[in-house]
Amino acid sequence: MKRTDYCWCGSNKKWRHCHYPHSNEGFSKDPNSLQALYLQKYHIILKTEKQIEGIRQACQLTSQILDKVCTMAKEGVTTLELNDYAHKLTLEAGAIPAPLHYGSPPFPKSICTSLNEVICHGIPDKEKLKKGDILNIDASCILNHYFGDCSRMVVIGETDRERQLVVDVAYECLIRSIAVLRPGVPICKIGEEIENYATSHGCSVVNQFVGHGVGLKFHEEPQIPHHRNQLAIPLAPGMIFTIEPMINAGVRSGYIDPVNKWTARTTDGRPSAQWEHTILITETGHEVLTPWVR
Ligand code: MF3
Ligand code: CO
Repeated sequence: MKRTDYCWCGSNKKWRHCHYPHSNEGFSKDPNSLQALYLQKYHIILKTEKQIEGIRQACQLTSQILDKVCTMAKEGVTTLELNDYAHKLTLEAGAIPAPLHYGSPPFPKSICTSLNEVICHGIPDKEKLKKGDILNIDASCILNHYFGDCSRMVVIGETDRERQLVVDVAYECLIRSIAVLRPGVPICKIGEEIENYATSHGCSVVNQFVGHGVGLKFHEEPQIPHHRNQLAIPLAPGMIFTIEPMINAGVRSGYIDPVNKWTARTTDGRPSAQWEHTILITETGHEVLTPWVR
């Protein structure tokens, strides 16, 4: 098989952009190394310097594209127009939109656009944005086989108190959970920070979707729960994962659209908000790889 052939997995992507094997250059050959231990015990890939640099580039590009698309999100614009703009920017940068054709059934678009009561995985369509809408835009790119993943909220004009509350609480949850990240901290600390803050503001934390390892694939181990949990795996240098808390004004539960099999909406129809960064654990703390700022 040639690098430019279509991938065996049926993604419709070229092999080199899909399941082409990554370089293991720099991965420890010592069976007692932390890299070997985490792989064996948790199926977590502690990234090499070379992989970190590649993932950093992919994350920077993803974050830049997300910023541009967010700027375009205004009253009267459709989420399909946002999608087409993101798609164009991604290809122009020599990258591939990771959501397109991802999963089963294949996700049909290049970004997720989740409006108001949509928790996540909203599919761009021809509906125009309206004053008072709150919109999550989630962008993920593959650049030189490496993945970046991030999302932000946009408020269209002014919105009501409940919608504004979830937007602000979800942001604060993300920032607070990032602040505690350093080697040795158990993964459950993230969910603890998030759920403590959200519930103290009368909001709930979605437990049906989680953050995830990312970098060599779109979704890797470990899962990162945003709700209170018992996951004791200690963070270690070289871990790269997303934190992407989904915060609801009402109940935490949601249901998946029975027709498109992707879009998750709150059970009670009340609003939901989400912000997402990709983060690297360093020797002394952490580095936010997707540099968007609110
Ligand atoms: N950040 C989202 C996630 O990790 C991106 C979803 S893209 C989709 O789930 F294709 F899976 F919808
Ligand atoms: Co993600």
